[in-house]
Amino acid sequence: DWTMGAYREEAIRKIRDQVGSGRVICALSGGVDSSVAAVLIHEAIGEQLTCVYVDHGLMRLGESEQVVSMFREHYNLPLIHADESDLFLGKLDGVSDPETKRKIIGGLFIEVFEKHAKAIGGADFLAQGTLYPDVIESVSFSGGPSVTIKSHHNVGGLPERMNMKLVEPLRELFKDEVRALGRELGLPQSFIGRHPFPGPGLAIRCPGEITREKLDILRQADAVYIDQIRKHGLYDEIWQAFAAILPMKTVGVMGDTRTYDYAVAIRAVTSVDGMTADTYPFTNEFLGETMTRIINEVKGVNRVFYDLTSKPPGTIELE
Ligand code: XMP
Repeated sequence: DWTMGAYREEAIRKIRDQVGSGRVICALSGGVDSSVAAVLIHEAIGEQLTCVYVDHGLMRLGESEQVVSMFREHYNLPLIHADESDLFLGKLDGVSDPETKRKIIGGLFIEVFEKHAKAIGGADFLAQGTLYPDVIESVSFSGGPSVTIKSHHNVGGLPERMNMKLVEPLRELFKDEVRALGRELGLPQSFIGRHPFPGPGLAIRCPGEITREKLDILRQADAVYIDQIRKHGLYDEIWQAFAAILPMKTVGVMGDTRTYDYAVAIRAVTSVDGMTADTYPFTNEFLGETMTRIINEVKGVNRVFYDLTSKPPGTIELE
């Protein structure tokens, strides 16, 4: 007789057994997995847990504020908001190679997390929202050329370096079970049902060089696009939808003036596990309306492309 309520009790007992009176630190990303893990661990050991939200300046519109306020105010969770956007964006300045971007972000993430962990006096345990499929995947991919999907959130190497043990209360669960556990713990459905968001954030939706101006335009275009999807009731039918800003400007016309502005691509896919994906079939009407809204509402954009590419041959993200 297995229910999420029983799982929750059992998990809490196991966390208490493992941690004892030790201190736990958790990198909260705002994603479902790390959030559910953090709330569960907090329920088990309260103030022995400290969460660090590493803000790399590559989050979506209003996202960091939302995540931080939800966990601080609603869950009363001890949370450090590490605003390191100047550091990340500074090191990314002028970088356009996708793998280099990922390496910079991943490396800085660990550095910053370690810095904040030390600042609070260190910890005995590192909490991670590792799921069962992550366990399987990291085994099957080991030694291969592929970076595991969770490469960024998984602060690999750090536990040994800082002499920490791992607390991974979701290790036996699949994604839908984590969502059920999240609901059981009272996380809002709007949060639990959110589309996946990659660790490197908007960096991999901004092919070419990353600038603050481009990130700003991208955030606004993405917000309009997601608003459109929600207004049409399509959000839950889609695995992942987002806008990307393309590394080019094109000529357009607005009234009787010529414009020379950025082009934005919109992408939406359906998928089961992110390993393969199909393009979501929007109606022409939806696409036309979205194009009009993005160009009218976002200054600096005068062209919208619709990404038709499935995975394979494309990847879901642009980089
Ligand atoms: P791709 O672009 O490889 O993405 O088809 C598959 C799924 O993985 C997500 N993704 C990442 N998630 N760190 C993450 O946490 C990453 O570096 C990363 N790269 C891709 C992507 O959003 C999609 O859901």
